[in-house]
Amino acid sequence: MKKVLVSAPGKLMLLGEHAVVYNRPCIVTAVGQRMFVTLELLPEPTFELEASDVQVAGYTKPFANLGEGDIPKGARFVEMAVKNFTKKYPLKGGVRITTKSEFSSLFGFGSSSASVVCVVRGLSELAGTKLGNKDIFDIAYRTVLDVQGKGSGFDVAATIYGGTLYFVTGGKVIEPIALEELPLVVGYTGVKADTVTLINAVAEKASRDPERIDSIYTQIGKIVDAGRAGFASKTWPLIGKLMNSDQEFLTMLGVSSQKLDVMVQAAIDAGAWGAKLSGAGGGDCMIALVSREKKEAVSEAITKVGGQIINVATNVEGVRIEL
Ligand code: MEV
Repeated sequence: MKKVLVSAPGKLMLLGEHAVVYNRPCIVTAVGQRMFVTLELLPEPTFELEASDVQVAGYTKPFANLGEGDIPKGARFVEMAVKNFTKKYPLKGGVRITTKSEFSSLFGFGSSSASVVCVVRGLSELAGTKLGNKDIFDIAYRTVLDVQGKGSGFDVAATIYGGTLYFVTGGKVIEPIALEELPLVVGYTGVKADTVTLINAVAEKASRDPERIDSIYTQIGKIVDAGRAGFASKTWPLIGKLMNSDQEFLTMLGVSSQKLDVMVQAAIDAGAWGAKLSGAGGGDCMIALVSREKKEAVSEAITKVGGQIINVATNVEGVRIEL
């Protein structure tokens, strides 16, 4: 039967998290650890999934029941992606899907979104449907919302388009930022964060003090717009300052943590141009913008306070058919 292998990168938020959920822009880069998904057509209308990274083995379901019943956590995103795609573009038979990730789902690099994007891209190949990036975005973003209820879609865009993007909520704007390099050090806190819990915590804060929180979102949006120009002209010290201000606003939103604060401060003390949490906060990763000369010192400083340096390429290619 017809078979295809698709890969897609993870993502790292550079500026604008949380505010981007509320109609503001952000800047995100695609990172070079990839999700690999094999899709194989089956003669009968059955969905089969093997996803050993998320403890799913031998999972099967008739197409007619997709999205129904008690779905194991590790199967939810992929199953909904198959459901949403085939609702629009019916397949003749069924599909067997196998996922394998190069990156740990703990880092917050967006493994769920990357798997959804691979599935949508792979199914379009198997079905012979010509889908543009925005068509893939719409089905994949719908899927993420169906499963987790919330999210701006920036991670979906990063994994489809690749590179570094200026993005506005729901894909209202998706524009590439031309970059040859991005001098980042990435530090993992060792703590897994839950995006929806953190979005809810910020929403709760906003319900108590709507004007203050909305004004923080607006100021973060301004930081992102200034950052966009800074990235385009590679004005790293300016971007570093913008990252530091963004971190202050994220702290006001209550999403930083003691571990993140300590790692961010260690990076700055060791000579980084700037540093901040990346993503939902609460844990996951922090990023520091550093010159070549300071890279080692900053990495050591982060390690010394208990962070784990993650070596990833940034600004990498988006979803692609491998075989
Ligand atoms: C999570 O990585 C970033 C958030 O802004 C959520 C989102 O944009 O979907 C908190």
